[in-house]
Amino acid sequence: MCGIVGYIGREDAIDVLIKGLEKLEYRGYDSAGVSFIDEGKIRIEKTKGRINDLKNKVNGHDYKSKIGLGHTRWATHGKPSNENSHPHCDCSGKISLVHNGIIENYKELREKLLKNGHVFNSETDTEVIGHLVEEYFEGDLLEAIKKAGKELKGSFALAVMEEQNPDKIICHRKDSPLVIGIGKDENIIASDIPAILAHTKDVLILDDGDIAVVSKSEVIIFDENGHKVDKDVLKIEWDVKEAEKGGYEHFMLKEIHEQPQVLKDTLRGRLNEQENLVELDELSLTTEEIASFDKIYMVACGTAYHAGLVGKTIFESLVKCPVEVDIASEYRYREPLITKNTLVIVISQSGETADTLAALRQSKKWGAKVIAITNVVGSTVSREADEVLYTWAGPEIAVASTKAYLTQLLALAMLGIYFARTIKSAPQKRLEELSSYLVKMPELLERVYDQEEPLKEIANEIAKWDSTFFIGRALDWAVAEEGALKLKEISYIQAEAYAAGELKHGTLALIVEGIPVITLVTQPHVYEKTISNLQEVKARGAKCFALAFEDDEKIYQEADIVMTIPRVDPLLTPILSVVPLQLISYYAAVARGSDVDKPRNLAKSVTVE
Ligand code: F6R
Repeated sequence: MCGIVGYIGREDAIDVLIKGLEKLEYRGYDSAGVSFIDEGKIRIEKTKGRINDLKNKVNGHDYKSKIGLGHTRWATHGKPSNENSHPHCDCSGKISLVHNGIIENYKELREKLLKNGHVFNSETDTEVIGHLVEEYFEGDLLEAIKKAGKELKGSFALAVMEEQNPDKIICHRKDSPLVIGIGKDENIIASDIPAILAHTKDVLILDDGDIAVVSKSEVIIFDENGHKVDKDVLKIEWDVKEAEKGGYEHFMLKEIHEQPQVLKDTLRGRLNEQENLVELDELSLTTEEIASFDKIYMVACGTAYHAGLVGKTIFESLVKCPVEVDIASEYRYREPLITKNTLVIVISQSGETADTLAALRQSKKWGAKVIAITNVVGSTVSREADEVLYTWAGPEIAVASTKAYLTQLLALAMLGIYFARTIKSAPQKRLEELSSYLVKMPELLERVYDQEEPLKEIANEIAKWDSTFFIGRALDWAVAEEGALKLKEISYIQAEAYAAGELKHGTLALIVEGIPVITLVTQPHVYEKTISNLQEVKARGAKCFALAFEDDEKIYQEADIVMTIPRVDPLLTPILSVVPLQLISYYAAVARGSDVDKPRNLAKSVTVE
């Protein structure tokens, strides 16, 4: 996700901003920039690439400034480029701003502003904010931001300055974090605490709807109703390393905890809550095209492949089209039966995985239409696919994928609902019911974290073993595959995922006294069958852990230890049920002392075959 730094005070602003941005580099970005007021004029230096590229742009100039804004961008609207980098400005170049978040209604606002004669220089959603503020600006920046803020839909953390008033920066936030570090004769604004720690440990945290007027000696905050508020100053006790991880011990744990937020981000602007409809404006497929697909391949690697396993069930249930899920490194060397009526959905967090990319290229050569589900704007997969559906998980730093996987599941569910709605392959009522579950998902997921302590105990037990099993039927099996992969890659425990009904065809021989077996039982149509499989392993001495719905009372008579998730529609269960498994893997890896964020032999992005 993007990073914001703003500075007003006694030091050289450009130096402070660049050092602050460097402290946010760990979060991932594709471009960086600063704006500042030098000799009474706003100047902007920005570039695609690294902060070193930005330094090269700034070096050699004799800029003098005590106020400025800095930004590292992780592209969402518009590819990574110099033009799309922040800061942005209005037509006059006298108002400059940086923004984190997503403006959902930017297209309508842009249309309106273009009609009023505004000239745009980028493809970003952010730029509309500068022009909107300009539209309302009559000498009072605070008033203009208040009015502009009311028109913005979506999420934003904003820092804005204006040439004629070089003594203040105005900040505004909604659904995107912003903090203000309180210094002596200086104040520093940031999206994240690591950027301010070199200056101060005293911070004010802005709440949703807050607007702050920040000068070098004062911070005045108004709440969403325009009332002036006094906030307590928080003393940050973390060092920089702890602050990067938001106080969590590892990035993986931080990312597991970010999942309710990234679900919200990925849903944002794609669900019309009044009509309960999924709307995917970014796709240009016609109804005829969607109706013409007679076969779908979902192709990916690793965790993304496991998302495809869930996608298959969703699509076959709603879209009524046969789906094959393929491992990209296998698919590319097979002879899949592809015609012009075949749709290939490639799934890739990074958008750079060599095998997935090769599968995409091969599919196009064979004549299929390709949709990419990816997390990285401007990635090779996103550029080469016919259509792209982005997940908004933000940069994932831990090698083991967690939040990206969850947003892939959500993207597949939205796509399935959207296709079914377009070609009317499922009853409207059913689609509405699923859509309303999607809205509730982030809130329901929050409840899963209440069990973190008991999950840690389960993990400690599993960590004593070198081998374990995950079993389930239907979608539970798909999630079992992901649970087993997570455990293997970070704790190095051998973990087997098995379709529960398949155990007795060989694998049951491996069940010995005390071995941990995690059984997922969230699919009502195969509930009794799965319980029988649980009994089979129990009878052979396995220690039985079960993952079930929280209102399932029967499971307590069957399993030794039960973990639960809130009851949701069975088709959407994986979005919740994988999270306890991620937490178990995490805590088992910690218990075994492995390098959780950088497991041995693995790389975050596999760009070679
Ligand atoms: C496991 C993991 C990998 C990736 C796989 C594909 O936690 O992260 O299995 O899912 O390497 O990567 P992407 O999604 O970037 O194509």
